[in-house]
Amino acid sequence: MDTHRTIGVLGAGEVGQAVADQTIRYGHEVVIGNSRGPQTLEALVDRLGPKARAATAEEAAKPELVILSVPFFAVPELTDLTNWSGKIVVDTTNQFAAANPWRGRYDVGDLTGSEWVAQHLPGARVVKALNTLFAPFIAADPRHTEGRQVAFYAGDDADAKTAVAGLLDQFGFAAVDLGGLREGGRLMQLDGALSAKHLLLQDVG
Ligand SMILES: NC(=O)c1ccc[n+]([C@@H]2O[C@H](COP(=O)([O-])OP(=O)(O)OC[C@H]3O[C@@H](n4cnc5c(N)ncnc54)[C@H](OP(=O)(O)O)[C@@H]3O)[C@@H](O)[C@H]2O)c1
Repeated sequence: MDTHRTIGVLGAGEVGQAVADQTIRYGHEVVIGNSRGPQTLEALVDRLGPKARAATAEEAAKPELVILSVPFFAVPELTDLTNWSGKIVVDTTNQFAAANPWRGRYDVGDLTGSEWVAQHLPGARVVKALNTLFAPFIAADPRHTEGRQVAFYAGDDADAKTAVAGLLDQFGFAAVDLGGLREGGRLMQLDGALSAKHLLLQDVG
């Protein structure tokens, strides 16, 4: 991703803020929204600086690339927020049934979590990414002397995946393609083999 762009961040909690930090660090503009309204985000945008704008959830969903960082169970509330058709949505969610993670998993039947998310955002080009990392590891510089933090991604639209991989690369992650929302998403989601795994890629040569 060579040009600077405006990125929507839907959800201004730990993950939304971590992605906003990275996004601004690399010169992009951020429109960030939550459920309670922009007046609750003043301190946050003061900290993020002039490239950040506090917005309604509707405004945060407008850009062509939107970071989805809300609780999983809140996703159905977003269906009518905007025209999702064609938008790239970076799905960072994990399918907890409630805010308390001990309350179990949200039942999505045979679907993977991101397939279910995609069903609720009609026409969106969903790329699952960053959900396997704890928020402090999303905010931090992924480049370590021992290697680069791996950021897995999965999706069903090749162009959307290329755009998201470009952003992850720009942030300094080692972006690793796991395929589509079904097979890759299953590995990345809660209880998948790669859930909560924090790996470093040792660059050689
Ligand atoms: N925390 C982590 O380390 C971590 C790591 C990887 C993935 N995840 C996943 O990433 C997602 C976000 O996690 P988080 O820890 O950042 O959550 P969080 O701190 O609880 O923040 C959630 C954000 O979503 C907003 N939100 C809730 N309902 C909304 C709606 N209908 N419209 C717009 N905004 C809404 C909340 O706004 P209000 O406060 O105004 O309601 C809040 O800003 C979750 O799915 C989580 O499972 C978390």
